[in-house]
Amino acid sequence: MTKQPSPTANQMWGGRFAAGPDAIMEAINASISFDQRLYAQDIRGSRAHAAMLAAQGIISDNDAKAIGEGLLTVLSEIEAGDFPFQTALEDIHMNVESRLKQIIGEPAGRLHTARSRNDQVATDFRLWVRDQADAAITGLDALIRVALDQAEKGADWVMPGFTHLQTAQPVTWGHHMMAYVEMFGRDLSRFQDARKRMNESPLGAAALAGTGFAIDREATAQALGFDRPMANSLDAVSDRDFALEFLSSAAICAVHLSRLAEELVIWSSAQFRFVTMSDRFSTGSSIMPQKKNPDAAELIRAKIGRILGAAVALFVVMKGLPLAYSKDMQEDKEQVFDAADNLMLAVAAMTGMLADLSANKDRLEAAAGSGFSTATDLADWLVREAGLPFRDAHHATGALVAMAEQAGVDLPELTLQQMQSVNPAITEDVFKVLGVHNSVASRMSYGGTAPAQVRAQIARWKEKLA
Ligand code: ARG
Repeated sequence: MTKQPSPTANQMWGGRFAAGPDAIMEAINASISFDQRLYAQDIRGSRAHAAMLAAQGIISDNDAKAIGEGLLTVLSEIEAGDFPFQTALEDIHMNVESRLKQIIGEPAGRLHTARSRNDQVATDFRLWVRDQADAAITGLDALIRVALDQAEKGADWVMPGFTHLQTAQPVTWGHHMMAYVEMFGRDLSRFQDARKRMNESPLGAAALAGTGFAIDREATAQALGFDRPMANSLDAVSDRDFALEFLSSAAICAVHLSRLAEELVIWSSAQFRFVTMSDRFSTGSSIMPQKKNPDAAELIRAKIGRILGAAVALFVVMKGLPLAYSKDMQEDKEQVFDAADNLMLAVAAMTGMLADLSANKDRLEAAAGSGFSTATDLADWLVREAGLPFRDAHHATGALVAMAEQAGVDLPELTLQQMQSVNPAITEDVFKVLGVHNSVASRMSYGGTAPAQVRAQIARWKEKLA
């Protein structure tokens, strides 16, 4: 005689259990509080699986129909917010199946034929992360367009370029914006690339070894929009590299966002005044009436913390796990959910902030010439026009900078006589290269800051995005 499951034992596996779990066991084991976010993917996967089982003659058409319709009922209950999620049912897979049983009765028990929660969760999670990769691609596309608009508007606005946050050489606003277009473009391509690799179906790998039922993995893969079934069932249920790639791409993108955010924080300060942020993306202070704080930029700057934290957490969870599935892997989801939510929010906030941002052209130009920013142009002139070796030209220019600094003036304000006292070969002609507009216009090397180069890059990007 078969042992009856205890009334409190799990209805999915109660057969070999005499007692239900301890409350603490239930608390550590359950994932429904967070994996309910996978409900749509779970139901989609189950519907594809049931249809395939029927097509293969493994379950009857009637049962498949009942399952398919019942799952849609479950879907609408969840979406309406009146689904009784139960911690005792552990996760989204068992919550859905158990409710399906209440709705359609006996056929529900046939859904899990030739399937395991191991391939089920791997499938659900892949589908979810794939959606997030798509969302990241869409979000970055919008951000790139906004940065391009900024670049186009100020393609020839001069500003100081920095190294070590010290004035280095004049650059253009357009050039600076286009640097971020390049970064966000690579971020976007990383998500595209990760998406390609993750787009294979684990469904049908079953627990770990595949199944003896004559399933059609091509069919379920196709129904779920995957390019093909994964080729190894052990790999299919045990790797989370797709999530690691997503998190890595997210972390790199968050670094880029953080750097731009930091620049906006600096640039919007009273000391810089390079940009003015819109009221829509600023906050005030409850005590200091004059304050307009760049909170959105600061929060974007900070998001890398939790996003990289999520990546590190999942790397550590996965490290050293023997094949195939281990319950450790249930710890994969919250990290990815949080990282994805925050990345999308940061990208959207940056897009809004940048769209509203006004760069202060006059202020940028005034700052562009200060700090001896055209010293390199002077040295280059000495090489080109006076035939000096670059090292000697560098030295002579250094002496002129020291002279200007002592006199409290900028380089173009030195007299010709003062210049000639350092090197007699200097002529009136030198003053041409000391102006910031000439300086940037001269930097025509491919990828350089000359407005003509910047406009060429803007045109290339526009074509690419069209
Ligand atoms: N909730 C589980 C997870 O997220 C589903 C897979 C459970 N599989 C198992 N063999 N216990 O990983």
